[in-house]
Amino acid sequence: MGQLQKLTGMPAADLLEAYGKYLFPKLANQMTAMSLNFDGAIDLLCSLESIIHKEVIKLYPDAELPSFDIDKINDNEILMEYRSCRPFAHLAKGLIDGCGDFYKQNLTVSMKHCNTDTDFHTLIYVRQT
Ligand code: HEM
Repeated sequence: MGQLQKLTGMPAADLLEAYGKYLFPKLANQMTAMSLNFDGAIDLLCSLESIIHKEVIKLYPDAELPSFDIDKINDNEILMEYRSCRPFAHLAKGLIDGCGDFYKQNLTVSMKHCNTDTDFHTLIYVRQT
C-alpha cells in the first residue's frame, strides 16, 4: 500500500475505496456461483454478516473477515457497524459504492471512525435515494 501511495500520490483511503469499487463485481460473480441472490443493495448489505461472510468462512476458513452489526432503520436506510483488527473501513466503503453501481441504485454512504487502540471501529451509514 505504501508503494502504491508513492507511485500514485493518492491517499491510502482513496486507493482502498477505488479497489473496493473495482472488486465488487468480481465478488458478485462469486456470489452468483454460490447461488446467493439479493433484491438490491440494501438487501445484500443486510445479509452481509448473516449470509455472505458466513458462507465465505465455510469455504475459506482462514479468511480474515471483519464483523458488521447491521441496524436496518427502514427499507432505504441502514447503519453498519464495522469492526476489524485491520484498518479496511475504506475498502468497505468502496465495496458498498460498487454494490450500488452493480444494482444501478444510488447510495449515499457516510462514515464516522471510532477507532480505539485495540480495534478499528467505524460507523457506516447507507441511504438509498
Ligand atoms: C458490499 C459488500 C461487502 C462488504 C462491505 C465487504 C467488506 C469486507 C471487508 C472490509 C473485508 C476486509 C477485511 C477486514 O476489514 O478486516 C472483507 C474481507 C473479505 N470478504 Fe467481504 N465484503 C463484501 C462482500 C463480499 C462478498 C460478496 C464476498 C464473496 C462472495 C466477500 C468475501 C470476502 C473475503 C474472502 C474476505 C477475506 C479476505 C482475506 O482473508 O484477507 N465479501 N470484506
